[in-house]
Amino acid sequence: MLFEAFILLVVLPLFFLTLLLFGAFVIIPGAFIFASWYMRIYERKKQRRLRDGPNLAFFHPYCNAGGGGERVLWVAIKAILTRYPDTNIYIYTVDTAEPQTIANKVQNTFNVKVDASKLNFIRLVSKRVIEASSYPYFTLLMQSLGSMVMGMEAFMKFNPDIFIDTTGYAFTYPIFRYLAQCPVGTYTHYPIITKSMMRRVQQRIVSYNNRGIIARNPVFTWCKLLYYKAFGWLYGIVGRCADVVMVNGTWTEDHINDLWNSPFKTHRVYPPCEVTELKQLRSLVKDTDPIRILSVAQFRPEKDHPLMLQAMYELRNLLVKNEVLWNKIKLVFAGACRNAEDEERVQNLKDLAKHLSLENSVQFVVNAPYAQLLQLYQTCSIGLHAMWNEHFGISVVELMAAGLITIAHRSGGPLADIVETSDTSRTGFLCSEADEYARAILEVIALAPDERQRIIDAARASVDRFSTLEFEKTFLRVAEPLMKLDS
Ligand SMILES: *[C@@H]1O[C@H](CO)[C@@H](O)[C@H](O)[C@H]1NC(C)=O
Repeated sequence: MLFEAFILLVVLPLFFLTLLLFGAFVIIPGAFIFASWYMRIYERKKQRRLRDGPNLAFFHPYCNAGGGGERVLWVAIKAILTRYPDTNIYIYTVDTAEPQTIANKVQNTFNVKVDASKLNFIRLVSKRVIEASSYPYFTLLMQSLGSMVMGMEAFMKFNPDIFIDTTGYAFTYPIFRYLAQCPVGTYTHYPIITKSMMRRVQQRIVSYNNRGIIARNPVFTWCKLLYYKAFGWLYGIVGRCADVVMVNGTWTEDHINDLWNSPFKTHRVYPPCEVTELKQLRSLVKDTDPIRILSVAQFRPEKDHPLMLQAMYELRNLLVKNEVLWNKIKLVFAGACRNAEDEERVQNLKDLAKHLSLENSVQFVVNAPYAQLLQLYQTCSIGLHAMWNEHFGISVVELMAAGLITIAHRSGGPLADIVETSDTSRTGFLCSEADEYARAILEVIALAPDERQRIIDAARASVDRFSTLEFEKTFLRVAEPLMKLDS
């Protein structure tokens, strides 16, 4: 009795009083101090920005690598500097080369000229945290947490006014959105995780992301699926921290929309392709020449060279009564071999050609230098592409730009992004089976000259969608909200 009264009359009131005092003297003033400190920083940032121009930081750890992703980075930087000359460009990177060396390499590999004096590099040291090889298990999650660590390092070394990630490290966005309080943009080439990766785990298929030991065991499979689902959910949360999302094509757009589910701020911006030079090539094919069909593809299994050989086989069946025409048709396989496996594949393809008695109709051009490739573009009149579900298909764009009538696989990027087949605006042909390819080849050969020219012109005009100029225009339009003050 006495004890309860004591609690009720003394302890509880004291407890609430303490809480009240704590609130009145600690939390509320603390919040005010924090807010005014924060506003001061914000004000100072804004004043500085009005005086010296915005500090725009790109997150691109391997900015000196010279691949397709880097081309996007540098063309974007050049476009921004042309449109907003007072912008100060910062690049978060682990590369250690000097600014001038990097600018020279950019000029040489991409033919993009940027003024090295406009570039500031924020050197990051936490390189190992984003490398897949650092994590034998839970690679996706660990790498993503690693990129967060790297994002923290970046934020602590430099607090920008605008943040744009061009590599797809989505886990850095919350850091810049909430700690640095700056607008966040992203250019994503590839989703870190896809629904099809999840499906492969669910259906217990052994693949690069699913070891045999997991696929065979239902409990492991269940755990892994849970892990993927949870990771996909997290990926969506951090992804939605971006204010502007750019994706490099329809394939990426579909997957990002699946996982981030913010279609209104997601924009498709095709990466810049070098089509200008190819568009200027003039055909050197004469009526008396053989009819050459060109495939440009590395000798990798997914490129499906055997399908093209089968198409030739079907074509000969269609032409049994027309030896003369058949003897004029030649297929040229141009492509690179990266290693001994690729070379073995070439040998197998030659054997297959012989087996189908096509050895006189098929020619192999391995590791041709660029000049020879240009010559091939000018002496062939039909382009062939056979890979199933290719994400994009830059080789198809290049064949079309070079003025060949292109027959591509009816799937993936060629279907979604590149080839138009409606009769009035045809830019090429789409096929999926060998006999379909054979009939398409015959159809192209039989085209009337004016119709043929119309398709070539339409195809060449259509690839402008993938040109550097178009990239710059779309990138600037989509990035505009990021560049506005007080956005
Ligand atoms: C987007 O990037 C991925 C990964 O680099 C690539 O496979 C795909 O072809 C790209 N898409 C386009 C439209 O270039």
